Amino acid sequence: MEKLWTGRSSGALDEYADRLNSSIGVDSRMYKEDIAGSMAHAAMLAKTGIISPDEGEALIEGLGGILDDLNSGALEIDGAAEDIHSFVEAELTARLGDVGKKLHTARSRNDQVAVDTRLYLKGECEKTVALIKDVIGALCHVAEDNKAAIMPGYTHLQRAQPVTFAHHLLAYGMMLARDIGRIEDAEKRMMGECPLGAAALAGTTHPIDRAMTAKELGFAAYSLNSMDAVSDRDYCVELCSALGILMMHLSRLSEELILWSSWEFRFIELSEQFTTGSSIMPQKKNSDMAELVRGKTGRVYGDLTTLLVMLKGLPLAYNKDMQEDKEAVFDAFDTAKLCLAVFAPMIAAMKVNAGNMLQAAKGGYINATDLADYLAKKGVPFRAAYKLTGQIVADCAAGGKALEDLTLAEYKAYSDVFEADLYEEISLQACVAKRTSAGGAAPANIAAQLEYLRGITDD
Ligand code: ARG
Repeated sequence: MEKLWTGRSSGALDEYADRLNSSIGVDSRMYKEDIAGSMAHAAMLAKTGIISPDEGEALIEGLGGILDDLNSGALEIDGAAEDIHSFVEAELTARLGDVGKKLHTARSRNDQVAVDTRLYLKGECEKTVALIKDVIGALCHVAEDNKAAIMPGYTHLQRAQPVTFAHHLLAYGMMLARDIGRIEDAEKRMMGECPLGAAALAGTTHPIDRAMTAKELGFAAYSLNSMDAVSDRDYCVELCSALGILMMHLSRLSEELILWSSWEFRFIELSEQFTTGSSIMPQKKNSDMAELVRGKTGRVYGDLTTLLVMLKGLPLAYNKDMQEDKEAVFDAFDTAKLCLAVFAPMIAAMKVNAGNMLQAAKGGYINATDLADYLAKKGVPFRAAYKLTGQIVADCAAGGKALEDLTLAEYKAYSDVFEADLYEEISLQACVAKRTSAGGAAPANIAAQLEYLRGITDD
């Protein structure tokens, strides 16, 4: 296929140089956006009188025909083309003759690719947000069913204070809600500046109407600096970092799912649809999907690093290094979307062993803070109450007893402030129910979180 830029040069690239130069394998997925951008450009050229109305119509119709044929499969993208922009333009010229050659007036592939990528990524943002909402929905569903399931909350992976499984899961709901905010925020900035019309780097002497194409393509405005417009890839970096943070959240939850599925915990059991067996150990049920999500997180961080390193030394304006942006940012979206698509049903289908969680909550003296708080509420200074409770815990641990196993007489031997009401205060149910401080583990706060998250998923 003849290169678009055959002119000064013969366009006859060395075989390996041609392979290195080609991006069609990566950017052909943007064909719809490339055609949409070209249609808006053609309409603008006609409206401003840069081409005739008939020519504009012919271009738009021709582009529409290519779009239909690509959608239906009647036309296949030629893998020998340099990139999707060259392919569409060559096809248009093959179909229309000389009129097709007018499409590229007042435009460069530099502003063209920047538009296409933004339009394509807008769609990816929307799909990703929808998938995140599914995961939040699954978390809310399981949380709803486990509002009363008491489990140990951990710090340093040591049993710390009782919480509910609902509260623990909804913590991830909050993280994912912020992920949506970050993606939508980056998307809004990306769609705030339309680069079309920046041409190669310095704008054009043709009387183009950038406001028209920006509006037509769904941008809030056009970019004010043509050099920035063609060399800006901040949106790729921002989106990749938002996806990196999202993956970090999924990875942390994966780690917990893996731990909770182990024989040591047995808090949950993942469905067979999301686990695998071992080729040698017949008893195994491995949490491969969660492990893969945890593993794929590094890949998305890699995509972000690729972008940051690729950009850091580039002088203005466009440089071919920037062609590498798409492979990285597309991979980040592909990976995140696949992980999210596995996650929502995996969460929804997991079996929760509330009995094992409660059993774990009964060990480890996780109601010790509540015993100290009991004393503090009776007027013992908290630091003294803390110390005395520590002593009681040490004695119980030595005697193999839980705090609630001591008799009132035994408590009285430590302090005569203790009364029979202490048992109610240190019951695990009460420890959770009484944590009514805003955002605490109490049931009322679960309801508030569910309401907040459903406001996001139903949006
Ligand atoms: N395939 C190129 C890219 O993705 C399109 C822009 C090419 N521009 C150029 N001046 N060679 O970056």
